[in-house]
Amino acid sequence: MNTDNRFAIPPEEAEKQKEYTRLASALIDARFTGKPLAYVHTYGCQGNVADGERLKGTLEEIGYGFTDDLEKADLVLYNTCAIREHAEDRVFGNVGALKNLKQRKKEMRILLCGCMMQQPRVTQKIRKSYSFVDIIFGTHVMHRLPEFIYKSLSSGKKICDISGEEGVIPEDMPVHRDSDFKAWLPIMYGCNNFCSYCIVPYVKGRERSRDPQLIIKEAKELVAAGYKEITLLGQNVNSYGKAPDYGYNFPRLLRELNDIEGDFIIRFMTSHPKDCTHELLDTMAECDKVAKHLHLPFQSGCDRVLKEMNRGYTAEKYLSLLEYAYKVMPDLSVTADVIVGFPGETYEEFLQTVDLVKKAGFTSMFTFIFSSREGTKASKMPDPIPAEEKSKWFRELLDAQEEVAAQRTASSAGKTYRVLCEGVSKGGLIEGRTEGNIIIEFPADEAVIGSFRYVTVTESLTWILRGRMVDNK
Ligand code: SAH
Ligand code: SF4
Ligand code: F3S
Repeated sequence: MNTDNRFAIPPEEAEKQKEYTRLASALIDARFTGKPLAYVHTYGCQGNVADGERLKGTLEEIGYGFTDDLEKADLVLYNTCAIREHAEDRVFGNVGALKNLKQRKKEMRILLCGCMMQQPRVTQKIRKSYSFVDIIFGTHVMHRLPEFIYKSLSSGKKICDISGEEGVIPEDMPVHRDSDFKAWLPIMYGCNNFCSYCIVPYVKGRERSRDPQLIIKEAKELVAAGYKEITLLGQNVNSYGKAPDYGYNFPRLLRELNDIEGDFIIRFMTSHPKDCTHELLDTMAECDKVAKHLHLPFQSGCDRVLKEMNRGYTAEKYLSLLEYAYKVMPDLSVTADVIVGFPGETYEEFLQTVDLVKKAGFTSMFTFIFSSREGTKASKMPDPIPAEEKSKWFRELLDAQEEVAAQRTASSAGKTYRVLCEGVSKGGLIEGRTEGNIIIEFPADEAVIGSFRYVTVTESLTWILRGRMVDNK
């Protein structure tokens, strides 16, 4: 059982950070007349967004309010992503744009954290070319934000701390949630899979799971506070509970969360096909609160490429998993991620990906062109296909998926779904999501936002649905 506490933050460290919170609070009380304002932006995946909500919670506890206006900010925090080059380019561009602001507002603090900062190549570049940045911190020390803020405010010195490799489980950080009806609930951190193209294991550390009792407690609190949707997060939720070992696997955790009383739905992501078991699919089918939606990235439809990617399954195994999943959940909606132009991939191999897409029946798919990440195995593989050619393949794949998606949405005509109303669409309609994670728009009063309603589909566009609200199913 749980004897492995190498990921826990020692109590004396947590206590120290509480003391820094008090010191930083006192300092800003003395320095600012009103509440100082923080501008916080998170890039990347939902896991990063969940981290961002913890960083915001910490800032709030110190005494910061929040603003969406950079001009009004006393503190700017960018929580960054390193997954593809494009993600990094955006961050460099946005940080560069802060230079003028910092010149005008010398007391403003600029903080950079997250996955991109965990790479020494990046921090060196920032210290050299963006020397106006005040604080850089990595993914393994985010719980030390109070210390960094206090030290920066009191001494004015630059701080750069990207220490740690294994990673911590940041329990007990305060959380400032962005929504009051949809919540992110991290159940694990890090990744051990080392897919050959992926930077995540290098920047987020080893796979580590949160204590199930703490997850269940947090979920109960969320439901009591009126949250309607809880999304469990991890890079590979199917391997939940391996380290530390609490005697729980993911299906058991799902079942216990499903037993919590209340009107809410449970989502989770991401599932890895190599660890996706029939037990999990049966559990999804049995649990009434678990949304019948599976995000199951396949990355490629070619076995040679999958092997080079170190994914641990074949196209056939993937499709047979889907077959079982659709058998036990006929209404299941499956979404996926796929990479086009992995080093050495040929056009014929790419066509096997197109073939898989035509067979799989995804409701939607996130398609990425391979981006070389320094330090990964794939970055050292020969990559002879020109970018232009890869873009052509990319469009070909999108076209194939568009056809599949249009067929799927068309098959929804006349059906009635329970929908969580989320906001107002660009066209002024209410926008919500079905259990299968398909967006549906319909006319209704804004008062419905944050509640479940029944909506009958009247029109199906390629990616989204339109409908009208009805009393019940
Ligand atoms: N843990 C999840 C995904 C994490 S990253 C999983 O294993 O499925 C989200 C997606 O980004 C991946 O599924 C992959 O499709 C894509 N991705 C990751 N690294 C990439 C790279 N170097 N180039 C292009 N796409 C990448
Ligand atoms: Fe990256 Fe693979 Fe881990 Fe997903 S499972 S985060 S793609 S290494
Ligand atoms: Fe990006 Fe880090 Fe997530 S690299 S995708 S923010 S784990």
